[in-house]
Amino acid sequence: MDCCVIGTGYVGLVTGACLAELGNHVIAADMDEQKIQSLSAGHIPIYEAELEAIVERNLKNGNLTFTTEVHEAVSESEFVFITVGTPSDAEGRADLTNVDNVARDIARALDGYTVIINKSTVPVGSTKRVQRIIEESMPQYHEFDVVSNPEFLREGTAVFDFMNPSRIVIGSDSQKAAMRMTELYHGLNAPLLVTDPVSAEMIKYASNVFLATKVSYTNAVANLCEAVGADIREVTLGMGYDERIGFEFLKAGPGFGGSCFPKDCRALLAIARENGYDFELLEGVLKVNLEQHEKMVEKVARAAEGLEGRRICALGVAFKANTDDIRESPAVYVIKRLVERGASVMVYDPQAIQNARVELPGATFASDPYEAAEGAVVLALLTEWDEFKWLDYERILGLMETPYVVDTRNCLDPAMLRKLGFTYEGVGR
Ligand code: UDX
Repeated sequence: MDCCVIGTGYVGLVTGACLAELGNHVIAADMDEQKIQSLSAGHIPIYEAELEAIVERNLKNGNLTFTTEVHEAVSESEFVFITVGTPSDAEGRADLTNVDNVARDIARALDGYTVIINKSTVPVGSTKRVQRIIEESMPQYHEFDVVSNPEFLREGTAVFDFMNPSRIVIGSDSQKAAMRMTELYHGLNAPLLVTDPVSAEMIKYASNVFLATKVSYTNAVANLCEAVGADIREVTLGMGYDERIGFEFLKAGPGFGGSCFPKDCRALLAIARENGYDFELLEGVLKVNLEQHEKMVEKVARAAEGLEGRRICALGVAFKANTDDIRESPAVYVIKRLVERGASVMVYDPQAIQNARVELPGATFASDPYEAAEGAVVLALLTEWDEFKWLDYERILGLMETPYVVDTRNCLDPAMLRKLGFTYEGVGR
């Protein structure tokens, strides 16, 4: 089938590449000329498992092309995916400027029945809004439907998640559009839920915010564990065996970050406010999260016995492992605060250094973890990269000024480190 995605950010790129991999003809459009040029040459601007190989393969076999010509892309497609960014505005609401502009571009390019799919995370009611904008901006009438089809991709496993979705949600008032979407996703084996657009939009927020709530709840319990002398890892293990709770998203740590959870929490809070509902629970989720970032700063400050002039080694700056994304990363928050309080922080991350240089002008960067550890009084592990588990800690012990590890991700082995001579501190244990 002929598809296009408008916006080649995370969601657009993964969606476009995977639809091409499933055998569709996909045009991926973006107004950023430089980006399109580099994508056409097979250069992927993000670090995402499998994505580069899929893009390369589908560029070669002609299933995937990149363009800056939105008009052409839309007029040649039966399915048009809107995958542009919706950043938070000052009040926490999703800013729809990009979506609105794209809707107008689509309206001008329509040429026969088209299904327009909202994949960007947009406030409840946006499917209708896009529909209205298109109706108002169409120079000449063409039949079209707008569908909400939220994505649930996790960074780092986005390709796998696209190909193996937990569910496919289609929010549409039009049976014709819903049927066409069902055909498009025919190759994927997943429960398919067809619902009204507003409910589909709500499913996306409610899911992400629920997961964020799980993380904040776990972190709150972790803090209590520290106070009473329990171990959060044992506690969550014991909880997880209850199928109603499950093991996922019960990892205590520095709080959640990334491009979705914080933004979606704020957006749902704004939606609640606009609709006269006092969503106190969600305010608590965000409050616990920020406090958790700050608690990590305090842990390091205590371990270093003050921060002014102290050398800190920060391992990890990405918001989680297996990504180079540092958007709203707890690690960035912690490093910024340490620098503000006078520490000299040397950062290492396997993938995210490039992005971090811009965001953290006050820090210095190491090319490997051992260089980062040299002369440090505290090693703060901030992102749970696998490779940090397998470092030569004996060597690190020799390099540090004082052997203190603050493991904000609970991913190292305390017994091993203590045996080597480190003081070890985790979260909630
Ligand atoms: C998330 C959703 O999982 C995905 O469905 C949605 O489409 C986009 O948002 P992502 O932002 O890639 O995906 O990250 P995710 O793996 O969900 O983690 C989010 C944050 O929560 C990270 O900062 C992570 O470290 C943190 N987290 C997650 C915890 O602190 N503890 C956990 O147990 C799980």
